[in-house]
Amino acid sequence: MEEGKILVTGGAGYIGSHAVRQLVKSGFQVVVVDNLSTGHLDAVDPKAEFVYGDVRNLGLLDAIFTKNKIVGVMQFAGKIIVPESVSHPLSYFDDNFSGVLAILRAMRAHDCKNIVFSSTAAVYGSSKEPAITEDAPLHPESPYGFSKLAAEHLICDCEKAYGIKHCIFRYFNVAGASEDSSIGEAHPVETHLIPVTVNASESGKQMQIFGNDYATRDGTNLRDYIHVLDLADAHVLGMKMLLNGGNSAIINLGSETGYTNKEIVETVGEVTGKKVNYVFGPRRAGDADSIVASNKKAMEILGWKPTRDLKQMITDDVNWRKKHPELYGNPNNKFSKVQLQHVDKVNETRNHSSLYEELENIDRIKAHKIKVANDL
Ligand SMILES: NC(=O)c1ccc[n+]([C@@H]2O[C@H](COP(=O)([O-])OP(=O)(O)OC[C@H]3O[C@@H](n4cnc5c(N)ncnc54)[C@H](O)[C@@H]3O)[C@@H](O)[C@H]2O)c1
Repeated sequence: MEEGKILVTGGAGYIGSHAVRQLVKSGFQVVVVDNLSTGHLDAVDPKAEFVYGDVRNLGLLDAIFTKNKIVGVMQFAGKIIVPESVSHPLSYFDDNFSGVLAILRAMRAHDCKNIVFSSTAAVYGSSKEPAITEDAPLHPESPYGFSKLAAEHLICDCEKAYGIKHCIFRYFNVAGASEDSSIGEAHPVETHLIPVTVNASESGKQMQIFGNDYATRDGTNLRDYIHVLDLADAHVLGMKMLLNGGNSAIINLGSETGYTNKEIVETVGEVTGKKVNYVFGPRRAGDADSIVASNKKAMEILGWKPTRDLKQMITDDVNWRKKHPELYGNPNNKFSKVQLQHVDKVNETRNHSSLYEELENIDRIKAHKIKVANDL
């Protein structure tokens, strides 16, 4: 296997932080680059080197690649909220496409030949297939989906032109947390059904299930869910495959079966012991009956299939929230506020040094050793 370090972009985020851990456990040396727009420093494995910065900053990438022998990149950095992408398409293409463009430029300049890319089921749009395969038609229905598909195309073109190999993973819904409950899902704006339902169960607030007359086993929407640790394992397998000389591949990470919204709400109630207070609301425009991915190709190429079920995902999420009622924040929530401001400032000014000064004033950040471009 080619020797060197793995650069994980977005390694302070939900999925990236779990992937960093699995990489470290598998014996890899890891460098994380993250602008902390939605990620958390405390989520980063202490055995990984953390570089604070933006992947669109070519100077920063150049410094990282010059200092470290990077043999592979795992790209998680980006924005993920579909409705937000509809109102902010420029910002979504900037992060999700320009970020990948900058990474590929740095990889080409430094002769790094392997990239594992976090893509999404949103590239398929609403498919009629019972279990979506990788050759299903590509019809993204949001700027988020388009920005990811555009990045996929660029990655594939870079293989033809420069021999940069890829493993592109398309996945659907991700849930769960680490087994020891030390890291878990903590998006500044939480839109994902499992954490939203766990929070509703704890607070007793009423929530809605949109529609109960779909063509599924209980009338509610059926969706694919994968445990974040299963997903992280797949990313490590994908990187190893490339480093061992394997060919490029585009692979769905799916469950083949999926779970309905009602099953999720009921399982959350079982796990927390607090029945979720829910009502059925009207259907939402554009929601397909069922969206589930085939995992045959993942099995054939990587020998991967999910090993953790819905109950495990929910149990791990609940335990993580119990152990960390403030998630990664501090009691006065200063940290999350800065993160939210940070997103706009990066996009408006790209003035990284002033952001760094702002972050430096926060005790929680000061306690960590952060490197910026000038330190490298
Ligand atoms: N969470 C899901 O259910 C899901 C489903 C399908 C695909 N994905 C993909 O997985 C990836 C990770 O998702 P997540 O849930 O971990 O999101 P996340 O928001 O928790 O993580 C993204 C990380 O990237 C960082 N980041 C964003 N823009 C950056 C930039 N320009 N430079 C440096 N760092 C930057 C953020 O600070 C954060 O740490 C995304 O690319 C997303 O499209 C996620």
